[in-house]
This record gives sequence, C-alpha cells and structure tokens, in this order.
Amino acid sequence: MGHLVSSTTMLQTAREQQFGITAFNVHTLEMLQAVVEAAEEMESPLIIQTTVGTVHHLGPDYIVAAAQTAARRATVPIALHLDHCTDYELIVKCIRAGYTSVMIDASMYAYAENVQRTQEVVKVAAAAGVNVEAELGKVGGVEDDIIVDEHEATLAIPDECAAFVAATGVHTLAPAIGTAHGIYKGEPNIAFNRLREIGQRVQLPLVLHGGSGIPEEQVRRCVQLGMAKMNVATELRIAFSDAIRAVFASHAAENDPRKYMVPAKEAVKRLAQEKMKMAGCIGKAKEVQARTDHLKASLCY
Ligand code: 13P
Repeated sequence: MGHLVSSTTMLQTAREQQFGITAFNVHTLEMLQAVVEAAEEMESPLIIQTTVGTVHHLGPDYIVAAAQTAARRATVPIALHLDHCTDYELIVKCIRAGYTSVMIDASMYAYAENVQRTQEVVKVAAAAGVNVEAELGKVGGVEDDIIVDEHEATLAIPDECAAFVAATGVHTLAPAIGTAHGIYKGEPNIAFNRLREIGQRVQLPLVLHGGSGIPEEQVRRCVQLGMAKMNVATELRIAFSDAIRAVFASHAAENDPRKYMVPAKEAVKRLAQEKMKMAGCIGKAKEVQARTDHLKASLCY
C-alpha cells in the first residue's frame, strides 16, 4: 500500500457512511503484527495506537519503523495514532518521528485551557497533515497513568462540543458519554440521548473510548449516532497475557519466546477481528483507500 496515512480521511469516510474503524492499543511487535494481519484478512482500514507509556517503553522511532513496515507491506490503509497524550513536547516528538494521528488529552483542565492546549496541537499538526483528536468531559477508568475515578467522570456537554470544535479546528472529538477505560463491572451505562445530541451538533468523526466489553448492540448504536473510531486496549492485553499464561500452565519451563508469542499473537488477532465485525469496518479498506487517492489526486493539480 505504501505509507502510513493520516486517520482524518478514513474517519471522515466512516462517519459519513456510518461505520466504525477499530483503533487498537499495541505494546509489542507481536501485538502490532496481529492487528495488521487481522485488518488484512478482513480488508479493513486500521488504526494502530500506542499510549504514552508504550512510547516510553519502546521508543517512538521503533514504533514508527514497525508501523511503516506494516504499511509498506499491507494492502489496507493504516494510520499510527498517539493515544491520550497530555504533553505537547511528546506530541511534537511523535509527529516528527512519523505518527500520523495524535490525541491531545487536556480533559483534566477547565474548558478554556482545554481549548488553548488543543489549539496549540492543531497548529503544529497542520504542517504535517496529522489528525488531531481531543476529549471533552472525562472518560472514567484507568489508561496508563491517567486515572479518572468513576465519581469524577463527567459527560460531555453538546453545546460545549460544538463550540470546542469551532474554536480549535480539531479533526476528531472524543466526547465522554459514559463508557470507561478498563473492564466494566456490569454493562456500560451509555448516555445515548446525549450522544445523539452531540452527533447532531458535531459533524466530525466522534471517538468511542473504553471499547473493551461494550456489547455489540451498543457499539452499533454508538456508530449510528456518530462514533467513527472505536478504541480497544484492555481486552487485547488480556487476550495476549491469558494466551501466554496458558502456555506456561502446561509448559512451565518453556524458554523459547516464539512458543508463547505465537499463541498470544493469534489470540490478539482473533479478538481484533471480532471487534472489527462489531464496529462494521470489515471490507471497508477499498472505499477508504479510494477516498484517500481521490483527495491526493485533487490536491495535485
Ligand atoms: P479500553 O481499555 O476500555 O479498551 O479503552 C481503550 C481506550 O479507550 C484507549 O484510549
């Protein structure tokens, strides 16, 4: 296929055509390969994402090199996204390294400061054609070092969402609608009416955080109401780790990493495909690619 692409066109296509694109948090080369193989088999566009913790763990250059290799070999469009970053300097570093999409998470600040911090990132990302995602309201749960107690989680306000998009020029918006990072105790309590209102006020692709454990029917409703990107992290980590644990349970002395990494990779791949099916992006790679090519051609006059 060629290069990593910005997630902007793929997500706009998804919003317009009412499907969701899965964005998977990966932490190892095998997890990255697993989600790429899943996307290839399903002919699905793909967003690979890493948390700040994983950027520190692996290094942005290693991550970009692996994602670029995947994009070069793949037949589906792939974007590389930085998830939940609060640090402007790190965002700039990742953009310079080759990330094609970034999230500035300033949701812990007051509205005006969230606007200002997001504006700064939109400005620096524009030159590189990089997609910018921001969050309004506060998504509960634990994502790396960002911990939001369930009592502190707040829903996004529709008027604020519309004003925020106009003020910042952000490309994608993650409104908190009652989902949470991590595994739900019961069923998630999604504020669908709130999401409907936000979706009517904001035409941009919306982002569904806390994708682990949301029942299929609820995912579909979210997508119909404007969610064009679905983030999945915790369930992938669990699938990966459970598969490794299962190998050691029967072969406690195993010391060949390939013997436990291969089943772990397979488990992640299977789960990624299930999530793609839920979000509705199976078979959508060609449409997204056609939109991206058309855009490129219309810019080359
Ligand atoms: P989960 O860990 O609940 O899947 O959430 C992922 C997420 O929203 C990453 O930003």
